[in-house]
Amino acid sequence: SSCDIGMIGLAVMGENVALNMADHGFKVAVYNRTVQVAKDFVARNPSTPGGLVYCETLKDFVRALKKPRKAVILVKAGPPVDMVVKQLIEAGVEPDDIVVDLGNSLWTDTIRREQEYAKQCKFFGSGVSGGEVGARFGPSLMPGGDPASWQHLEPIWRAIAAKVDPATGKPIEGASPGKPVEGGVPCTAYIGPNGAGHYVKMVHNGIEYIDMQLICEAYTLLDGLLGLSKDEMSRVFSEWNSGDLDSYLIQITADILQQKDPVQKDKPFVDFVLDTAGQKGTGKWTSSNALDMGIPANAIAEAVFARCLSALKDERVEASKHLAGPTPTPVADRQGTITAIRDALYCSKICAYAQGFQLMAAAQAEYKWKLDFGTIASIWRGGCIIRARFLQKITEAYTRNPGLTNLLLDPYFNDQIKQGQANWRKVVSIAAQNGVWAPAFMSALSYYDGYRAAHLPANLLQAQRDYFGAHTYERTDQPRGKFFHLDWPHPSRPQLDIKGTG
Ligand code: 6PG
Repeated sequence: SSCDIGMIGLAVMGENVALNMADHGFKVAVYNRTVQVAKDFVARNPSTPGGLVYCETLKDFVRALKKPRKAVILVKAGPPVDMVVKQLIEAGVEPDDIVVDLGNSLWTDTIRREQEYAKQCKFFGSGVSGGEVGARFGPSLMPGGDPASWQHLEPIWRAIAAKVDPATGKPIEGASPGKPVEGGVPCTAYIGPNGAGHYVKMVHNGIEYIDMQLICEAYTLLDGLLGLSKDEMSRVFSEWNSGDLDSYLIQITADILQQKDPVQKDKPFVDFVLDTAGQKGTGKWTSSNALDMGIPANAIAEAVFARCLSALKDERVEASKHLAGPTPTPVADRQGTITAIRDALYCSKICAYAQGFQLMAAAQAEYKWKLDFGTIASIWRGGCIIRARFLQKITEAYTRNPGLTNLLLDPYFNDQIKQGQANWRKVVSIAAQNGVWAPAFMSALSYYDGYRAAHLPANLLQAQRDYFGAHTYERTDQPRGKFFHLDWPHPSRPQLDIKGTG
C-alpha cells in the first residue's frame, strides 16, 4: 500500500483528475470497470511526477492505498455511484476510509449515502467544475462532508485546484503536463457537511445555464437587431471580455463565433450547429429546488425552459409558418445598441447570481449548513465554467457584509444596475417590439422590478383566493399572521361579513 489516493472511473474527467494529482506528486491508484481502459491509460502516461498504479481488480485497488484510504469515484451520477461504493466495501474498504464522489450527484443522494454507508466508510461528496481542461490543470472543487475527512483530502484538493492571483483574483494560467501552476490561492474550500458541496456545485450549474443563455440572447440580438456578421460579433465579445463581463464563457463565445466550419469552408461553424440544446439535469435540479424552497430563481429556470423550447425544433419550424410577429426594424444606432446589449447582459447576470445566492441561503437554513458566500464566490474565480472577473466583486460584496440578504442590495451591484438599467430596459423593449426572443433578459428584469417593489398586486390575488376558495387573507390594518375571510355575497347571502381567523 503505497498510493496516496485512488481514482475509479477513467472517462475523460477521471483520467484528467488522476493526471492532475500525479502531476502534483501524488501516487495514484487507478481502476476502471473495463480493465483495458486503465491499462492503456497507465501505459500512455509512464512518467508522471507522482506515478499512476494500474489496478486490475478493486481488491488490488484497495490494497494499493495508504490508510486511511482515499478512493475517488468519478462515474455517471445515480445508481452507478451506489454500485461502486458497495463494490468497494466488498473489496475491503474500512470504516475510516474516505470514499469521495466527485461526480455531478444530486445533493440529497449524497446526504443519503453518507448516512447509509456510515458504518462501512466515510462517504464524502465533492463538486468539481471546469470541464476536461479544468480537471487536467486545475478545476474548482466544492467539497462537502465530514470535516475530519476533509483534513485528509485538503492537501490534495488544494494542490490540484485552479489557482488565482491573490492580488487580483484572476486565474493563473499556463499549466502544462508535468508542470502545474506554482503558488496562488487554490479554488477550493470546505463548503459544509453532507450534501453541501454537491448542492453548491448544482447551483453553480444553474448559474452556468443562465450565463450561457444570456450570452445566447446577446448573440441573437446582435444578429436580429443589427445584423452583425459572426466575425463582427466575435470582436464585440472579445471587447466585452476586457471589461466587467470578462469571463471564460464570453471568451469561448468570441472563439466560437470566429470559428469557420471544417466542412462548409469559410462559413461560420456556428451556422451549421443545429439549434436544439441538450441538458443533463443539473439546471433542472436547481430550478425545481428553487420551486420547492419558494425562492424566485426565475431567470435560472428561464434558462432551463429556454433549452426545452429549443429542443422542440420540429414544432417550432411548423409554428414559424403560422404564428405572426412583427417585422424587425433595423436599429440605426449601432454602437449605442451594442453597448445597450452589453449593459442588459450585465444587469441580467447580476440578477441571476443574486438568485443563485438567495437559493443557497435558503438551502443553508433548510439543512443548517453554515455556507460562507464570500468563499464560495472566491473559489469560482478560477477553474470552473462560470469563472469571471465578476466573482471577485461578489467575494468583495460578501466580505463587506457576510449577512447580505441579496446581492442587489450590495452598494457596488446596486450602483452597477443603476448605471445599466436604462439600457437594459431599452434592449428588452426593442426585443419585444421586434419579436426577438430574449426570455432571460426579460425574466431577469421582471425579477428586478418585482424585488424592488414595496407593493405587488398580490393583494388582489389573495382577495381572489379568498373569494373562490375561502383561503383567507392578511390585512394591511392588522398585525401579520392574523387571517381573515370575507363572506363574499352570493345569491343566498347578499350581506358582506368579515371573520378573523388569526
Ligand atoms: C462543469 C460543468 C459540467 C456539466 C456540463 C454539462 O462545471 O464543469 O457544469 O459539470 O456537466 O456543463 O452540463 P449540461 O449537459 O447539463 O449542459
